Amino acid sequence: MTTHATWTDSIENREQFWLEAAELIDWTKKPTRALAQHSETSWEWFPDGELNTCFNAVDRHVLAGNGNRTAVIYDSAMTGTQSRITYAELQDHVARFAGALRASGVQKGDRVLIYLPMIPEAIISMLACARIGAVHSVVFGGFAASELAVRINDAAPKVIVTTSGGLEPKRVVEYLPIVDRALHASTGTVTTVIVADRERIAGSAADYQGGEVEYLDWKEAEAKAEPVAPVPVEATHPAYILYTSGTTGNPKGIVRDTGGHAVALTRSMGSIYGIEPGDVFWSASDVGWVVGHSYIVYAPLLAGATTVIYEGKPVGTPDAGAFFRVVEEYGVKVLFTAPTALRSIRREDPELEYAGQCDISSLDALFLAGERLDTETYHWANDGLHCPVIDHWWQTETGWAIAANQRGTELLPTKPGSCTLPCPGVDLRILDAGGEEVTEPGAEGNIALKLPLPPGYLKTVWGAPERFHSSYLEEFPGYYSTGDSGYVDEDGYVFVTGRTDDVINVAGHRIAAGSIEESLVQHEAVAEAAVVGVRDNLKGHRAYGVVTLKHGFDVAAEGLERELIAHVRDTIGPVAAFKDVAIVSRLPKTRSGKVLRKTIRQILDGEDYKVPATIEDRSTLDEITALGPANPDIPHTQSVAVPIAV
Ligand code: COA
Ligand code: AMP
Repeated sequence: MTTHATWTDSIENREQFWLEAAELIDWTKKPTRALAQHSETSWEWFPDGELNTCFNAVDRHVLAGNGNRTAVIYDSAMTGTQSRITYAELQDHVARFAGALRASGVQKGDRVLIYLPMIPEAIISMLACARIGAVHSVVFGGFAASELAVRINDAAPKVIVTTSGGLEPKRVVEYLPIVDRALHASTGTVTTVIVADRERIAGSAADYQGGEVEYLDWKEAEAKAEPVAPVPVEATHPAYILYTSGTTGNPKGIVRDTGGHAVALTRSMGSIYGIEPGDVFWSASDVGWVVGHSYIVYAPLLAGATTVIYEGKPVGTPDAGAFFRVVEEYGVKVLFTAPTALRSIRREDPELEYAGQCDISSLDALFLAGERLDTETYHWANDGLHCPVIDHWWQTETGWAIAANQRGTELLPTKPGSCTLPCPGVDLRILDAGGEEVTEPGAEGNIALKLPLPPGYLKTVWGAPERFHSSYLEEFPGYYSTGDSGYVDEDGYVFVTGRTDDVINVAGHRIAAGSIEESLVQHEAVAEAAVVGVRDNLKGHRAYGVVTLKHGFDVAAEGLERELIAHVRDTIGPVAAFKDVAIVSRLPKTRSGKVLRKTIRQILDGEDYKVPATIEDRSTLDEITALGPANPDIPHTQSVAVPIAV
């Protein structure tokens, strides 16, 4: 079937289409229905099915006689470690670690917070949770203690699984002091911290024993534990919580269900990526992000493929050939990464000399997501790597691609700048500000998805179902609002052009401008702050803060900017990559007090802008102009105020 026919089938014969897809996994109780729609905004996938995701990702491959197949390849460019875990070994580790969680009191439905770098323990602990029906919440290692505390408070976990240390190129990330600080700053639901000791890179469980929270060493806990068999759960049982930035400083805990998640991800491996059991699939992301959840951990293993967990960077560990070495060494068939990773390679090795020194002939396709793929990077990779470069569009909320060139179904001609066609089950429309559908090809608007959402997409926001409605379903009744704008061309190809809200995408990571603003105003010197996303050659965008100071603080104070940057790093974490702040006497505002963030961004990006008729004081814009362009490397003209009729 063609991509288009498959898509039509998924919408017009929804029940049959998804029940057929459900055949790809093993159920302890087979669903008789695909979708139960309770109301326009409430539905359940496979409502009467029961299954265990860990069984599907691990045990069933062992039972089918593939226990000796490699499930996980661990490659650490940081330590030089390389190891392989077969499906049978993975089953043993996961069953035992599930036993260790049980021994720490974790039952079905309890939350386990996982705060780990890119080591196999991350995969094992996520699957161990799934094995006993516990709900994991993985937090990316680049977040600081206060962000970790916010997530502990919201998810209320019983157990935290962490490590003695993470390795970044220029430093060791000390996880245990961060966990300790977060525990002191949060409500006391956590009874146990299990520590995967990395040869005492930075402390161990023993350093923290004796307090109210019990600290256990991973290896000892696993060795003592009784292996546990997979526990069947309802298809509607929450699989996990993953926090993502909203427009405010308060992250949203995206919740996915178990059945829809397992079915959609298993199907996607064949239909989108063209991966068969035994193939090597590498998602060069991080387990802390959605791409890592879906395509480092769950989908490749559900499909019986081999997944690579890579601890390192695309450049500098040790050089721009790192990705190509991994492709060659393990015979990677499909690589999935973010455009920013390619831009970093291109900056160091524009002629792809490193790639030329490696045999990367195993590579059938390069998939990209996480941010807009600029056409220059697309052409560079497409011309240089001799395999299709496929852009696909994603969100933490959706868990798998919204639109993609689905090479396992049919590889369609690529159009640079487009993520090709909507995936099965995605009824994508372009809506104007009033919610009216825009059908004219090429006309830009809000991208919305007609309800119900496909299986595997978010089910709710943890502990705040009203936030699910207010954040996603209220803006356009009957639709899920993606927060992205874009258009559909005459061939039905989707083009995503940007966000419609204050979310900034930094190196494929989503950061809320609001949370950086909140952090800045917490500083004793800051009166007001406006944070905007300016263009960045490498990271796509980066956050730029403009602040005013409280009375009595000196605008020219030595080192204040540095202090503010350090403060944001301390409260949000290095992942915010916040390096630009400027102090002004007043922020540009409308007469009603609204900060003119768009105009600030346009000026800093060197774009032409319109002076809003309602501006309070025009000279505030001159002060922003005087700061100069945020990115002198990007060619642009000096921004000019375009006169408008008042
Ligand atoms: N734990 C602790 N700190 C982390 C971290 C982690 N897991 N990951 C990143 N950081 C730190 C970095 O060390 C850096 O700190 P620094 O300011 O002390 O140098 C900071 O967070 C910013 O990190 P990043 O934005 O990743 O910049 P970088 O210079 O380390 O690397 C790229 C740049 C382009 C190589 C990198 O961003 C990359 O590979 N991106 C791919 C994006 C991706 O995987 N996206 C997921 C969606 S597909
Ligand atoms: P995250 O939830 O962190 O994965 O970020 C999701 C956001 O990243 C989306 O809403 C888009 O704004 C952006 N994004 C992801 N993939 C793409 C893509 N292929 N093209 C354009 N934008 C993308």
